[in-house]
This record gives sequence, structure tokens and C-alpha cells, in this order.
Amino acid sequence: MDTTNTAAQHARTTTGARMTPAQYAHIVGWGMAVPETVMTNDDISAIVETSDEWIQARTGIRERRIASASESTATLGLKAAQRALEVADVLPAELDLIICATSTPEHIFPSAASLIQSWLGANNAGAFDLSAACSGFVYGVHMAAQAIRSGSTRTVLVLGAETMSRVMDWNDRSTCILFGDGAGAVVLKASDVEGGVLSAVLRSDGTGGDLLGIPSVGSHDIDGVTEISNGHKFGKMHMNGGEVFKFATRVIADSLTQAAQQAGIALADVKLIVPHQANARILHSAARSLKISESLFMTNIDRYGNTSAASIPIALCEAIQQGRIQANDYIAFVGFGGGLTWASMVVQWGSPEVTPGSPSFINRQRRQLSYRLAAWRRALLRASRSIGSSFIRLRPTQGRMDRLKHKAERYPFD
Ligand code: UT7
Repeated sequence: MDTTNTAAQHARTTTGARMTPAQYAHIVGWGMAVPETVMTNDDISAIVETSDEWIQARTGIRERRIASASESTATLGLKAAQRALEVADVLPAELDLIICATSTPEHIFPSAASLIQSWLGANNAGAFDLSAACSGFVYGVHMAAQAIRSGSTRTVLVLGAETMSRVMDWNDRSTCILFGDGAGAVVLKASDVEGGVLSAVLRSDGTGGDLLGIPSVGSHDIDGVTEISNGHKFGKMHMNGGEVFKFATRVIADSLTQAAQQAGIALADVKLIVPHQANARILHSAARSLKISESLFMTNIDRYGNTSAASIPIALCEAIQQGRIQANDYIAFVGFGGGLTWASMVVQWGSPEVTPGSPSFINRQRRQLSYRLAAWRRALLRASRSIGSSFIRLRPTQGRMDRLKHKAERYPFD
């Protein structure tokens, strides 16, 4: 008996509506946000011993964006999410799930996804952060597509959002020249129209965990290597660039080929590859080993550097803006990075039936109202909690002690 189908037939969305499982998960909205502050290679050469010539020649990067004091992973993510909802003409209340791929959340918890959920007023959505470094966005889109196909969700927001500048060791010229800040988001929707996410190949090799990382809470010896005492700094990124470079060039070709096979197409059918933007030379070698033209790779690393999990959705938004993706095109994503992790995916871009039109005036107003109501709701709930706890503090201490004593006697094992 096919239990998956039976279970799916009885599935309900998070809003409680009974639904039949959708066969296809399409990307119907997209948006990006980058900080205004531009840091050029010359600006970096005032901090560490490097040069514009070296950085451009070895990486292809000319400049990157750096978050201001008032910006964070979640605030950049929020802007990207609002733009994606606008393109999809989806209301925050319609979202069933929010997944934020990030390595630089403000907190271990609450997740950046939960902050974004509350700021949007997406009160019917579950939310969590996904940690798979620069592969995170592809992992997230796969999770979203699977959730849609299972029948448990219909509309999912997936983000890649980062403030890499906050985890840079600004004395380490081998890493600080590479990274930048930004966010990208997509909305996926259930559909009966054939296409959307067709395949995904997700992989990990934890034996390379020491090659790229950010020591954090609970950091301790991994395979006898003491994370902090070996020169790595708490909360700062370290990388063995040469080894990561070799790993990246090796996995891109293999995983793209597998994702195409899994989708039932030849790699030659893919119109555009939107890769993680780590180093222009990595894409050059990948194109060579795949024997494809380098122009098939979308690249914007020159303007944003490596924005980790945000780099693929940002590049996707710019590819769409540049008219490089048309209805029914096969496109591919490929991500690789810390973990080590890597992931490839083939998507058949929405046909006109699933490609959004211009957002309706009413829905635009409803979204704005949702954002305002979310802010009031947050303020009200916080105020009522703080009034509540003030009352508790005002209650006589002796009475509170008596109540605790009484409770301890009644429930000795609590
Ligand atoms: O998103 C996660 C995935 N990350 C990546 O894919 C990054 C992969 N790695 C890379 O992109 C490259 O390895 C780097 C850009 C990080 C480094 O480029 P490289 O061509 O591998 O340089 P290298 O580390 O082999 O260093 C070559 C030389 C060294 O000098 P010596 O020892 O030959 O005298 C370095 O000290 O370049 C020197 N160097 C620099 N010189 C000027 C290293 N960094 C710099 C710098 N400016 N910023």
C-alpha cells in the first residue's frame, strides 16, 4: 500500500484547510536586498596588506556590500522577503513555512526565520534557520519543495541571508577580502502545472569540517584539533582556501551532472546555471571540466563578493532582471561550502500559468497592513508581558515563598 499517498490525501495545511498533495513546487516570487555601503578592494587594502590587482586577479571581486550598525541578517532577509511576496502577490498569512539558510543569525535562537515571521505578520507559518553554509539555500529550496509535495504545506518562503562582515577576522587577508553581506528570498507554491523543482542532489563530507568554520558556543576539540587553541578565533571565520578551492572545483561538475540526470535531462539542456559566488576562478575550472561555456554560469561576484547562503538567490534575482531566464527554461543551482556540504538542483522555470502577474492593488495594501499590524502586535504583547511580570514582582515575597514551598511539597519531583 502506498502509505505516502494515503497520508497526503488526508493532509491539511497549517491553516487547517484539507488539501490534496501537489505534484509540483514552483518558484513564483523572488527578491533581494543588499546594504548600501560599498567596500571596494582599495578600501580593504587600507586594512590589510593586499591590492585591488591581487583580489581581482585571484577572485574576480571588485567590491562587496557591508551592513550598517542598524542592519542584520534578519533585517536584510525581511526586505528580500517583502520583495519576494510582492512579486508572488502572496499575503504573509498565506505562508505555511519560512526557512532561512544562514551562518550568521543574530542569535542561535530565536532564529532569523522566526524574527522575519513576526515582522511579516506571517502568523500561520512555522519558521526555522537552516545551517548548511553556502549550500544552505539549495538545501532550503529542496526542503520547501518536499514539504509542498507531501501535501502538508502549499506556500513556503525560503531565504538565504547573511552578514558575513560580522564574522570576518579583519586581520586575515586570505578571508576578509572575499565576503560580503546581503539577502535573497524566493516564494514556492504548490501547483498542478508540470515543472518547478525537478531534482536535488544534497551531499556532505564532515571529514572536511576543519577546512572552513566559525567556532561558536560549545566549540571544542574536533578529532583532536582544539578549535580555539589552534589559532582560530571564537565567532570568526577561518578557511583553508586552497583545499576548499580544490574541493569546490571537484564537486560542482559531479553534482550538476547528477542533478541533470535525476531531472531526466542532459546538462546541455540547461539554459543557465546559478552557482554559489565564491571565486570566479572556481567557475572557470568547473566550466572547463564540464566542457561548457563559462557564459552559462550567472556571475555577479565582482559586485557582491561571496555572500554565502545569500549568493544564489541574489544571483537568481539579477539573472531574472537581466532577462536571462524565460518560461519553461531549465535552470540549475549549485552550492558548496562549510560542512563540507554541497548541493545541486534543476528547476524548470514556471510557464506563464505559474509566473506571477503584477500584484493586485488590494493585496499590496493588505501586505502593508500586515506589516503594520505585526509591529503593533509585537509592541502590545511585549508591553503586556512586562506589565504582567511587574505585577508578579509586586506581589509580597513572603506569599510567593509560601506558594513555592506549598508547590514543592505537592510536586516533590518537579
Ligand atoms: O564560500 C565557501 C567556499 N569558499 C571558497 O570557495 C574559497 C576558495 N578559495 C579561494 O578562493 C582561494 O584559495 C583564495 C582566494 C582564498 C586564495 O587564493 P589562492 O590563489 O589560493 O592564493 P594562496 O592562498 O595560494 O596564496 C598565494 C599567495 C601567498 O603568498 P606566498 O606564500 O606565495 O608568498 C599568500 O600569502 O598569495 C598571498 N595572499 C595574498 N596576497 C595579497 C593570500 N591572500 C592575499 C591577499 N592579498 N588578500
